[in-house]
Amino acid sequence: MASSRPRALSGIQPTAGSFHLGNYLGAIRQYVALQETHDAFYMVVDLHAITVPQDPAELRANTRLAAAQLLAAGLDPERCTLFVQSHVPEHAQLGWVMNCLTGFGEASRMTQFKDKSARHGADRATVGLFTYPILQVADILLYQADAVPVGEDQRQHVELTRDLAERFNGRFGETFTVPAPYIVKEVAKIYDLQDPSIKMSKSASTPKGLVNLLDEPKTTAKKVKSAVTDTDTVIRFDAEEKPGVSNLLTIYSTLTGATIADLEQKYEGKGYGALKTDLAEVMVDFVTPFRVRTQEYLDDTETLDSILAKGAEKARAVAAETLADAYDKLGFVPAKH
Ligand code: TRP
Repeated sequence: MASSRPRALSGIQPTAGSFHLGNYLGAIRQYVALQETHDAFYMVVDLHAITVPQDPAELRANTRLAAAQLLAAGLDPERCTLFVQSHVPEHAQLGWVMNCLTGFGEASRMTQFKDKSARHGADRATVGLFTYPILQVADILLYQADAVPVGEDQRQHVELTRDLAERFNGRFGETFTVPAPYIVKEVAKIYDLQDPSIKMSKSASTPKGLVNLLDEPKTTAKKVKSAVTDTDTVIRFDAEEKPGVSNLLTIYSTLTGATIADLEQKYEGKGYGALKTDLAEVMVDFVTPFRVRTQEYLDDTETLDSILAKGAEKARAVAAETLADAYDKLGFVPAKH
């Protein structure tokens, strides 16, 4: 069954701790939906994480935490392949091959590297950070992925993947599927609750603007109730004039499936207080089971680790086949068994 479906692959960094509402509504929900239509592979990218310094104990905890949250959000190991990147050694192996196919200038044009190295101080940036996008190329090509569900910020890395797939195929013969970015335009963009002019993100604004899914539900309710709105009282979607209220309507609509028009009608003649109280309840109903499920996985790392081991085994079967083909095309002598 699965093999007749297009293949999707994505990776998520194990560095964030708790997912926030923006991650969930923007990306994770997409991952969950793609299980139904695609042969989907999702991995926690610990090899990518060490391109900047990581505390080992924190990295290990965050890797399990990311996997636990993906499962809590609805990834089903029966319907997708969920694994940890370092469990599949083929990533590093094909990464090397891709390093040898990438021009130095070509890698130097990657804007995320430029941003990140500027942030960490250019002289402290590692070679690993420089080749980060090339490891990502290997991640994608190993699985012959058709679709790569990512945010707009990853488009350039998927373009590089396409270029390198075509280059390898052109030089050595058809080997890799040339993937396309899967960027859903209508995906809900969630803004900071305190500053609705900026996207909700870990690094932005005050903690009050950020809804972490693993926060105490009552903290979340409080954040919703103190969200910035405007001096008007009308509940209407208008991203320009009423960005705060519009953001609340977007969150409400995305979590419940009610349309914005339904909500505008429901709150006609009512004040912001009513909207916030109801939305706080909707959010609490959403985060409460999410936290419980995440905690269940974290309390039973044996089960969690065996889910990840099974995922790695499924992933490796695909990755090993692709790598063997690439090695053969390159002219490597096969290792005798
Ligand atoms: N670079 C991606 C990010 O920061 C994470 C990632 C690593 C990834 N490997 C990938 C995404 C492969 C898609 C496909 O979000």
